[in-house]
Amino acid sequence: MARIPLIVGNWKMYKTTAETTDFCLRLKGDLSEATPQQMEVAVAPPFTALAAAAQALRGSSISVSAQDVFWAESGAYTGEVSAKMLADVGCRFAIIGHSERRQYFGETDDSVHKKAAALMKEALIPILCLGETLSERQGGSAFAVVERQTRQGLKGLAPKNPRDLVIAYEPVWAIGTGQTATPEQAQEMQAFIRKLVGELFSFPMSQGVRILYGGSVKPETVVDLMAMDDVDGALVGGASLDVKSFVQIVRGSLAKS
Ligand code: PGA
Repeated sequence: MARIPLIVGNWKMYKTTAETTDFCLRLKGDLSEATPQQMEVAVAPPFTALAAAAQALRGSSISVSAQDVFWAESGAYTGEVSAKMLADVGCRFAIIGHSERRQYFGETDDSVHKKAAALMKEALIPILCLGETLSERQGGSAFAVVERQTRQGLKGLAPKNPRDLVIAYEPVWAIGTGQTATPEQAQEMQAFIRKLVGELFSFPMSQGVRILYGGSVKPETVVDLMAMDDVDGALVGGASLDVKSFVQIVRGSLAKS
């Protein structure tokens, strides 16, 4: 199954509603030539700007993603947002298990798993982030860590279509550090993740699921990363905040589509 490249901009805790509207209108204009058949593009603003993004992107093929979700459908969970609420404001994706949430907000493999299940129930697509820290890589446990995160995050889920799930390999040592993994390092780990998806679900599922690379992706590095067989797109942080560099990253990935 052909895997349509996917580029997602993870804005983290940046941009007001006015800045979001401005960014999205410019992005929509600049990317009007990229059709959904060629590639998919999404932006992930903070919760407060999701509705503004969805409104500004209406009529385009660019999607909106949340940066997190809570697994319960509703209830007394002060400060949380459900999958249904994300669908309601026009989200198509939600990032879960980002290393910043694992590091600062107590996200675990178990909570990531519950979030993935809650999103799928609402027909939203989880972008499941995983990746090893520097000490884990240096200590030789990178593959074991990624295997645990993949298996525990995905256990018991039953995606019907490979498009129902996205995985983002983000080595923690490459996030926000300017130190991108080499294309070979990304390829090696992402081929490993694809094999695990095959074991957990099925061979066709593993061949169709999109695995993104994330960690200091820049216009200058995206082409070589995308040239790798198992790199189906990118989760971009810092370089996604500027329309020009984000558009360059999308254009750099078009060669693969
Ligand atoms: P970065 O962030 O591109 O700024 O390294 C990537 C991410 O955290 O998703």
